[in-house]
Amino acid sequence: MININSKVFIAGHNGMLGSSIYRILKKKGYKKIITVDKKKLDLRNQIAVKKFIKKNKPDAVIIAAAKVGGIKANIKYPANFISDNLQIQTNLISSSHINNVKKLILFGSSCIYPKHLKKPIKESQIMTGLLEETNESYAVAKIAGIKMIESFNKQYNTNYICLMPCNLFGPNDNYDSQNSHFLPALIKKIYLASKAKKKDKVVKLWGTGKPLREVLYVDEVANACEFFLRKKTKKSLINIGSNVEMSIKNYANLVKKKIDPLVLIKFDNDKNLDGVMRKKLNLTLAKSYGWKSKMNFSKVLDEIIRDFKNSHI
Ligand SMILES: NC(=O)c1ccc[n+]([C@@H]2O[C@H](COP(=O)([O-])OP(=O)(O)OC[C@H]3O[C@@H](n4cnc5c(N)ncnc54)[C@H](OP(=O)(O)O)[C@@H]3O)[C@@H](O)[C@H]2O)c1
Repeated sequence: MININSKVFIAGHNGMLGSSIYRILKKKGYKKIITVDKKKLDLRNQIAVKKFIKKNKPDAVIIAAAKVGGIKANIKYPANFISDNLQIQTNLISSSHINNVKKLILFGSSCIYPKHLKKPIKESQIMTGLLEETNESYAVAKIAGIKMIESFNKQYNTNYICLMPCNLFGPNDNYDSQNSHFLPALIKKIYLASKAKKKDKVVKLWGTGKPLREVLYVDEVANACEFFLRKKTKKSLINIGSNVEMSIKNYANLVKKKIDPLVLIKFDNDKNLDGVMRKKLNLTLAKSYGWKSKMNFSKVLDEIIRDFKNSHI
């Protein structure tokens, strides 16, 4: 199996999750980490990916590269979300197989489970109902990746897996006002409001604030990734989450308390921007393999707010 002397290719090492995996593998003593910038290798290019994997011969491939975005980006660019993700993962999975890569880890997301499910969501509930319309293209691409992995495992006896994280946050997050996920968006919007004069400290947030979200610090997922890199598992789809689940309104109030309690929070009450109401993951399978989140949410939230102020202002 994979160990610190194995050659590990991290695709997407500049992204939020990829950079965290890179840091964690380095910290754990991995000596042969392979990375390549998007400028030198566009992972949508099948021939170039084939050549790269053949030349570098990794023992393991981690697919942290993807077209990722928040609800508005998903609504506006469905073609990019389906086609980029299908191409990136198909190229990497098939090239890995041809070149005898021992372990491959793909990342799904809790938002690709059907929208009306009994919670907490078990891995076996994938493809058991209608998808959330706002991110259908992204979800279909990711589901195709999961089925591709399962099919390769069945036909070729490979040990490829897909980890399914809940909402993530951490260093190198995307703070773009249109494309970011909800937690970085809250931090940025509340911080900017805090800088206004007392009477103008108002922030308008999308949706009703009622949807519940489970969050996990990205380094926890990177730790899970390293854990499962070394582990042979029977199951190929594994949820990765935490015990922190609150409404968006409560996250907003917590962030406001940490940044500036005088900020007034208002929601635009547009239900179309709520997304799925709840998507709590069932974490029994990961636990049965020996992995569990150790996140101290308040502490990492403080770190992230500090990181945001240092690197984005
Ligand atoms: N963020 C979350 O809350 C969350 C939650 C659950 C699951 N996940 C999963 O975690 C994975 C990583 O997400 P992330 O949040 O780390 O995203 P991210 O920060 O946007 O990172 C994605 C990386 O992929 C690279 N990339 C995109 N298209 C590429 C291409 N054609 N060729 C080469 N590189 C390409 C991007 O490079 P550029 O920036 O240069 O385009 C970026 O470095 C995704 O599979 C996502 O579904 C994320």
